[in-house]
Amino acid sequence: MGRLEGKIAWITGAGSGIGAATARRFASEGAIVAVNDLNVAGGNQLVKQIQEAGGQAEFFLGSVTDIAKVQEIVQTLVAKYGRLDLLVNNAGVLRDAMMAKMTEEQWDTVIDTHLKGSWLCARAALEQMKIQGSGVITNTSSTSARGNIGQANYAAAKAGIWGLTKTLALEYGKYGIRVNAIAPGFIETPMTDQIPDMLRERAISSIPLRRIGQPEDVANLHLFLASDEAAYITGQIIYVDGGVKI
Ligand SMILES: NC(=O)c1ccc[n+]([C@@H]2O[C@H](COP(=O)([O-])OP(=O)(O)OC[C@H]3O[C@@H](n4cnc5c(N)ncnc54)[C@H](O)[C@@H]3O)[C@@H](O)[C@H]2O)c1
Repeated sequence: MGRLEGKIAWITGAGSGIGAATARRFASEGAIVAVNDLNVAGGNQLVKQIQEAGGQAEFFLGSVTDIAKVQEIVQTLVAKYGRLDLLVNNAGVLRDAMMAKMTEEQWDTVIDTHLKGSWLCARAALEQMKIQGSGVITNTSSTSARGNIGQANYAAAKAGIWGLTKTLALEYGKYGIRVNAIAPGFIETPMTDQIPDMLRERAISSIPLRRIGQPEDVANLHLFLASDEAAYITGQIIYVDGGVKI
């Protein structure tokens, strides 16, 4: 019996990196996974992989910033399975620039995708979870929430996710719904593969565990928070960063 047997899970940005690893992990523990992404090739490939491994998954094309699409995903899942148990708000983009050079487009894209997107998906999921009287939402913050040079937009969005997480935990605890956030450090995914070797080496030397994290390291935390083993944990921001922010 898997740790998420029969659970209906919606994972945003699941076509790549941490989201894909989390979708694979959830499916291997018995969840039925809605793989949501803008990346059609990545999403379809992942669904195929999960199905070949004996799991259940379906691809949902759509942006987390698109209100109609977000509502449609929840409606489709509820029509098909009668419920929605888990939401992992993971979709993300970077538009790094120093403050003086940051454009309004760079600011808006990052804030909209991470912060507004998480709020929109949570709002749609919570409506159903409240009816059920159960559900788990896990948002994605970052060690960058404490400030990071060249990432005013990203740091602001990821810090905003703290407030969103804690507020939703306060408002929805009484309905049996848990809301937490994870805060990854430096994880090896397509989002970080442009980082030059010199910076990589410098980062590794500042990480107490002396290695870059793997998507599976983060997926394991998502699994724990989604599972009943975390039944008394809500409103928390949990680091998975090799010890950088001790
Ligand atoms: N990799 C790291 O070091 C790191 C560190 C801290 C936090 N994070 C966070 O983890 C999450 C996953 O990042 P990753 O490293 O796996 O990146 P990634 O680029 O591999 O995956 C992100 C996915 O999100 C999708 N996406 C982007 N905008 C979307 C939208 N509007 N709607 C739906 N999907 C969208 C992309 O297509 C992509 O498949 C992000 O929220 C990121 O900010 C990553």
